[in-house]
Order: sequence, then structure tokens, then C-alpha cells
Amino acid sequence: NLDASMLENVDVDQLKASYLPEGLRGANVTLEDLHRLLESKCRRANKQPVNATALSKAIETAGGKLVECLSGLANLTEIQAEIAEASPKGDLDVVFEKYCLRMPRAKACLKDFNDALLPCLNSEERAHNTVLQRIADRLLEFICYKNGDQIALFIAEQGPECLEQSREGIANCLNSTFGGYLPKQLTADWTNGEGLPELVLGPRQCVDLYDFETCTVQLLERCEVITPSNIVESMFRYVRRESSCQASIDKAMAQRRTALPLVAAKEGAAGLATSAWTLGSLLLLAGALARL
Ligand SMILES: *[C@@H]1O[C@H](CO)[C@@H](O)[C@H](O)[C@H]1NC(C)=O
Ligand SMILES: *[C@@H]1O[C@H](CO)[C@@H](O)[C@H](O)[C@H]1NC(C)=O
Ligand SMILES: *[C@@H]1O[C@H](CO)[C@@H](O)[C@H](O)[C@H]1NC(C)=O
Ligand SMILES: *[C@@H]1O[C@H](CO)[C@@H](O)[C@H](O)[C@H]1NC(C)=O
Repeated sequence: NLDASMLENVDVDQLKASYLPEGLRGANVTLEDLHRLLESKCRRANKQPVNATALSKAIETAGGKLVECLSGLANLTEIQAEIAEASPKGDLDVVFEKYCLRMPRAKACLKDFNDALLPCLNSEERAHNTVLQRIADRLLEFICYKNGDQIALFIAEQGPECLEQSREGIANCLNSTFGGYLPKQLTADWTNGEGLPELVLGPRQCVDLYDFETCTVQLLERCEVITPSNIVESMFRYVRRESSCQASIDKAMAQRRTALPLVAAKEGAAGLATSAWTLGSLLLLAGALARL
């Protein structure tokens, strides 16, 4: 089966080892668990009865196509080799221009995948989906701003080294901001879809994302060269502007300044909801960059 094997080929072990809470690291999630999780998600998302099997199959097929599409556009091993060759010659911009020209195709592939996802999102998640899509587009645009100027600069100025050196710290930042969204242990309830985080970017997610940003940027500032930290910060800012997060962030910061006990805890209880989407993208991005 083409799709399943594609998904199995994604090397998640390294990501898991670096970024998952300890209780989940040893957990053996089988493809069967993921099937069940997805089906349950599709069933719960709709008020009317739907064929959840068919919907979740469609997502898996689309996921396989996405991986196929992206690996057709960019092969990490090859990019690494091209960077290693171009870097001493000062030709990094040529490499990134080549890949950035392919960006519209990558966006189209992401859109197809998102379309398959939509029927399995509940009404709130669907409302947030447009914003999340725009954020993903913005992120790609940032990476390819002026045909990859920023990313070329990031690599030339020891960005990958800085990320690698901060890997553990970033994992801690993730744990302390988004750790609460993941269950401590994998339970049967969880794979049945109980307490599965929602794919929304509400006030709580906005503040957590901002905390993650602050935590990460502070870490990167300790690297020998300041440029990577500056680039990562402007990337966060660029993306933040596209969300409707600023008001929630300002409110939360004002509350913290007046040192009130965390009112957010009450609000937070209402939503064990997260942008797993955003989290997933961040993880993939971090993983991809760390491997460069
Ligand atoms: C996961 O599988 C491995 C080997 O298949 C086994 O050693 C380990 O105990 C399993 N972990 C859990 C949490 O079931
Ligand atoms: C649901 O979809 C699956 C796969 O497309 C199909 O095999 C099955 O017959 C459908 N079930 C119902 C009740 O329509
Ligand atoms: C990536 O490129 C390398 C070297 O050319 C090749 O061995 C590998 O199979 C490619 N990977 C994919 C997923 O195409
Ligand atoms: C993650 O954070 C929780 C509490 O915030 C802590 O108990 C746990 O040890 C942390 N895990 C890791 C791997 O840092």
C-alpha cells in the first residue's frame, strides 16, 4: 500500500525522542491506533451520521499524496548536499531561489491535504481553519521572502548550529508551553478520541505560542551569533501579525504584570483545545532545520 508505506517512511523517531514528553516517548502508537483516532475524530466532528471510515481513509490517502508531493519538490539529503557545496562559494541564494520557485506547488499540495481534512473538523475548527491556512502560507512566504534571502542568511550565520545547540532547551520550551495539550500517557480513551485537542487558535493557544516564542528567542540569543535569533523572532512576528492573537496576548501580559493569580487557568479549563496543526508544523520545521 503506497500511502501507508509513505507515512511509515517519515522518520518520527528522532522527533519523538527530542520533543515528546517522557510518558509518551516509549508509547507504541500503531498505525491501527491512528486509524481509530482519525475515524473517531471524523465521527465526532459531524452532528449528522457520516461514513467516518471513508472520510478518514480520504485523509490518509491525502496525507500520502502530500508526502509524495513534498518529497518530489525537495529532497532533504539533496538540499543538504547542495547547501554544503554552495555555501563556501557564497551561492546559497541560488539554491534557495531554485526551491522557492517551487513554493506555489507546495502550497497547492498543502491545500489539497487541508481540503481532505475539512470534513473531519468540527464547526469551531472549521472557523479557525482559514486563519491557520493563512498562517501556514505566511510561514512559507517568510521562508521564501526575496527568494530565500532570509533562510540563506540564517544558514550562513550559523543558524543550524545555533538550533542544534539549543535543541534541548527548545524541547523544554515546548514542554512548558504546549506540554499540557498532550496526555501524560497514551490511554485507550485517548485513541478513542476523548480529549483529543482541537485544531483551533484561540486565546489560550495564542498566549502559549507567544510564551513559546519568548522562551525560544531567549535561548537563541545566547548563541555566538545573534542573527539566527533575530530571524526566528521576525518569523514569529510575521506569523503573529497574520493571526488575531495580539489582543489575547496583550491582555495576558497585562494580567501577568499586575501579578494577579492566573485567571487564565479557568479559561484554560474550557479549552483543552490546541492548534495541534501549528504545533505539528513547528515540530516539523524544527526537525527539518535541525537536520540541515
Ligand atoms: C513498545 O514496544 C517495544 C518493542 O516492541 C517494547 O519493548 C516496549 O515495552 C513497548 N512499550 C510500551 C509502552 O508498550
Ligand atoms: C463507508 O465507506 C467505506 C469505504 O469507502 C465503504 O467500504 C463502506 O461500505 C461505507 N459504509 C457505509 C455504511 O456506507
Ligand atoms: C533523496 O536523494 C538521495 C540522494 O540522491 C536518494 O538516495 C534518496 O532516495 C532520495 N530520497 C527520496 C525520498 O527521494
Ligand atoms: C515537562 O513539564 C512538566 C511540568 O510542567 C514536568 O513535570 C516534566 O518533567 C517536563 N518534562 C520534561 C521532559 O522536561
